[in-house]
Amino acid sequence: KPPYDAAMPLPKAELHLHIEGTLEPELAFALAARNGVELSYADTEELREAYRFEDLQSFLNLYYELMAVLRTERDFEDLANAYLARAAAQGVRHAEIFFDPQAHVARGVGIGTVVDGLWRALGRSEENHGVSTRLIMCFLRDRSAESAMETLDAARPHLDRIAGVGLDSAEVGHPPVKFREVYGAAAALGLRRVAHAGEEGPPEYITEALDVLGAERIDHGLRCMEDPALVDRLVRDRVPLTLCPLSNVRLRTVDVLADHPLPAMLDAGLLCTVNSDDPAYFGGYVGDNFDAVRSALGLDEDRLRELARNSFLASFLEDDEERRAR
Ligand code: HPA
Ligand code: ZN
Repeated sequence: KPPYDAAMPLPKAELHLHIEGTLEPELAFALAARNGVELSYADTEELREAYRFEDLQSFLNLYYELMAVLRTERDFEDLANAYLARAAAQGVRHAEIFFDPQAHVARGVGIGTVVDGLWRALGRSEENHGVSTRLIMCFLRDRSAESAMETLDAARPHLDRIAGVGLDSAEVGHPPVKFREVYGAAAALGLRRVAHAGEEGPPEYITEALDVLGAERIDHGLRCMEDPALVDRLVRDRVPLTLCPLSNVRLRTVDVLADHPLPAMLDAGLLCTVNSDDPAYFGGYVGDNFDAVRSALGLDEDRLRELARNSFLASFLEDDEERRAR
């Protein structure tokens, strides 16, 4: 059987995608050459060898290291266009795209360069790729709450292009409550709110992201399955979860894909979506994730269609935009 989604991609929205995580080795080397940046890998093959991760932190180390090649507006434009082309080929009609301004500002690349560069691609994405987009600015949770607030302030001139805020990077030891104030300020500015929770961190972080941060959607949320009362709440309140199955295997959140709780989560009535997280690092884009869960978990066509439909329901598209996209 040919891979179902690759052969006939379902129209879908991608809601959990770090644009920096779409940096393919070939583009990393091209940008390194263009910008005169020295990489500590001889070639793309040697770089790919480094993609054997133990956990979230071992991935993040490489993810932040390779960002050194992203320096100009054009770099961010090229990065986003490469992602949008690949996503469109896998059926993506709408993408809500994370970016990590603090990781760039720390290297001397201003938030304006990042947003303007990304926007050169996103602003024309509907015409060029048939993909509508939203931009979600993430705070790095292993940095201070003050740094997050400074980032929100620095983003003020760009808020016409930023739909919401998120929370990512090393989870354990950095509970959502640390970011209570900045999420309050973001809400007051009319920004949508999402947060990574329950990837490596405990179910309590999911509850906290909902109660303290006002998160409208939980990124990953896998570990909710350890707390039946929390599952009941997520089902009752229709809180979307943006799952990333290939990411979970690569970061060893689950041992093998066949053990992934996605079928149990769907059976429990959770509003699950399937996404790629950092596709250049984790072995595939969103259609590849659909194909992987289909073959490893035996999801039938109805389940796959449910996942695609959920992705639009869980998106920040308005109803009329949503109808057009799917
Ligand atoms: N988890 C947390 N932070 C991240 C991830 C992730 O999967 N990808 C990029 N930043
Ligand atoms: Zn993520």
